[in-house]
Amino acid sequence: MKKGFAIYPGSFDPPTNGHLDLIQRGSQIFDELVVAILRNSEKVPMFSVAERREMLLQLTADLRNVRIDTFDGLMVEYAKSMDASCVLRGIRAVSDYEYELQMALMNRKIEPTLETVFMMPADKYSYVSSRLVREVAQAGGPVKGLVPEVVEQKLREKLDPVYRLQEANVIEVPRRRKKKA
Ligand code: PNS
Repeated sequence: MKKGFAIYPGSFDPPTNGHLDLIQRGSQIFDELVVAILRNSEKVPMFSVAERREMLLQLTADLRNVRIDTFDGLMVEYAKSMDASCVLRGIRAVSDYEYELQMALMNRKIEPTLETVFMMPADKYSYVSSRLVREVAQAGGPVKGLVPEVVEQKLREKLDPVYRLQEANVIEVPRRRKKKA
């Protein structure tokens, strides 16, 4: 049984396997799911909104009822303007609960007709967050299995100084010579 049109708002900086898991679950429950990236967050993002949008577009290309959008200002105003009936949010652990409860109740206070629906990602992603992924990647640690491959590659491009200089045509990395037989 599918029902209605839901918004899945967030920062997605970067999208993780946990986000993707939730998007897949949400797409099976709702007729249509719009993944909405917040544009003007107070935080300084690692990836621009355009980069995050591009990654999410690639990751959800096979999900026919999922769209990617961006929004500004109050989420409930955006949800209302889209005529959405629900807001989807993920809860990983008890630690998420307080923040999510406050947000859901504040949103309800502003717009009582908009319901927040919580879903849990697979337990193997229960500790995965964009913040920790950024932290581990910035320190040169492995993020394999925590983010989709396309995101892993984007992190590498963003953080690897050699790759960045190469992209900017500042240095040329010599190709490896084939070994003589
Ligand atoms: O992925 P995040 O950073 O936890 O997502 C938080 C997000 C974007 C859902 C939240 O900050 C939000 O809705 N911001 C838009 C501004 C707004 O409506 N603030 C009031 C929330 S009660």
